[in-house]
Amino acid sequence: EEELRHGWFVGSIDQGTTSSRFLIFNGEGDPVAMHQIEFENLYPKSGWHEHDPLELLASVEECIEGAMRKFGDMGYSRRDIRSIGITNQRETTVVWDSKTGEPLYNAVVWPDTRTKSLVRDLKARDGADALTELCGLPLSTYPSSVKLLWLIQNVDAVARAYEEGRLAFGTVDSWLIYRLNGGANATKPVHVTDSTNASRTMFMNLRTLQYDEKLLQFFGIDRTKIHLPRIVPSSDPECFGKVASGVLTGVPIAGCLGDQSSALVGQCGFSPGQAKNTYGTGCFLLYNVGEEPVISRYGLLATVAYDFGGGRKPVYALEGSIAVAGAGVKFLQNNLGFATQSSQITELAESVEDNGGVVFVTAFSGLFAPYWIDDAKGTLFGITQHTSKGHIARATLEATCYQTRAILDAMAKDSGHKLESLAVDGGLSNSDLCMQTQADVSGIPVDRPAMRETTALGAAIAAGLATGVWRELGDLNGMVNREGSRRVFWPGMERERADRLFEKWNQAVEMCRGWVRD
Ligand code: G3P
Repeated sequence: EEELRHGWFVGSIDQGTTSSRFLIFNGEGDPVAMHQIEFENLYPKSGWHEHDPLELLASVEECIEGAMRKFGDMGYSRRDIRSIGITNQRETTVVWDSKTGEPLYNAVVWPDTRTKSLVRDLKARDGADALTELCGLPLSTYPSSVKLLWLIQNVDAVARAYEEGRLAFGTVDSWLIYRLNGGANATKPVHVTDSTNASRTMFMNLRTLQYDEKLLQFFGIDRTKIHLPRIVPSSDPECFGKVASGVLTGVPIAGCLGDQSSALVGQCGFSPGQAKNTYGTGCFLLYNVGEEPVISRYGLLATVAYDFGGGRKPVYALEGSIAVAGAGVKFLQNNLGFATQSSQITELAESVEDNGGVVFVTAFSGLFAPYWIDDAKGTLFGITQHTSKGHIARATLEATCYQTRAILDAMAKDSGHKLESLAVDGGLSNSDLCMQTQADVSGIPVDRPAMRETTALGAAIAAGLATGVWRELGDLNGMVNREGSRRVFWPGMERERADRLFEKWNQAVEMCRGWVRD
């Protein structure tokens, strides 16, 4: 039986903000084959950020083909894949025609701020104060609700589809699951989302895990005119259907988790009090609070951490969301031409002893947690003739570390418990300098696993649990926590100095407020 168990592999689609990937994991949680593709990020206007939904889908399909080729070269085939999971960038809003299955507009990506003035108006509406208690999220440009509303109000094709009852809405998970199942051509089209993704829309009640009429009404969404995805648990052998075409035809999709939830699962953060911080395009700290949601009073979000179904209760998290982490590195590389590869940006940061007095508030999409300043703009402080690219690169990495510290402080206030160490993953966690800075700034050890494909692993775990590859969460503990495979960064800076630098950061944040309205 042991041998058979190890012969079962699980696939994982990881559809992120800058790239798509497909990974294949063995029963020990090791990735054995992988393929990754970067696709185009579109910025048609200042503050706008879009993806082509068909390009997202094509990139996923290409990644599956690529990874399966490598898997084939190892002597395996589709038959060895028990099931697949999907993990995805959250909040990003896709609209399509339920009759044809074709997109009606580009996907509006999570950091997009075109809804700034809409959000200002919504905040003034009766009932705005009661939303967070119901859905866990504060009203801002970040969730899907305001993006959908903008699309209905501003795009003719979307408005028409809505009036004619053909408008289908979904986050990226829903879109991919729908199309992988054959879209409108399927005998029974599959239009679902899991509760972690649904908890990012502002339409779902955090306690019932179903759409809440009060929330829909607040945003003026008439349920009879729109196809909303059915909300299902994150792990299920049937709800998500099966792949309808290509090399994985017939393989069940059995897991689905928003990428940040998936990273928590991949880190095996199954106990209340456990947390992880993922440094991807943005950076997101999730803290497991157990089976009851905790509504934050200090600027954090309440969200579903994971919901494995099968009689298990859903587990909730407090979340600190930072919009810009790797995106800051990409900005220096692509917009300012500092380097041709992101690794060169961290090398630039390492080439100087400190930030030379530069503070970079990377508020390209306003500032998220715990500040929530929609109208902040990216601002560089402390420039002199002495300033070099190295200083700016260093200040860019530090911006994420300072925001993480602000989130840790808020989390300690909300939970009454100070984190003892911070488990990290994601692209930027590869930078030793960034992780050492994080430990110095926050005063707690930063704990980095050797296996950092935790986001993809989480969705594979959800799928594997639903299809018998793993039976209990207990089977999984230790997968990422293998002895000797971690690196711990210990805080090395005097607390007084760290506090002074953090104060300077907070002063810079205050100075970013109150930009002239556009
Ligand atoms: O909420 C947005 C988040 O899901 C995007 O994650 O990995 O692209 O930074 P990432």
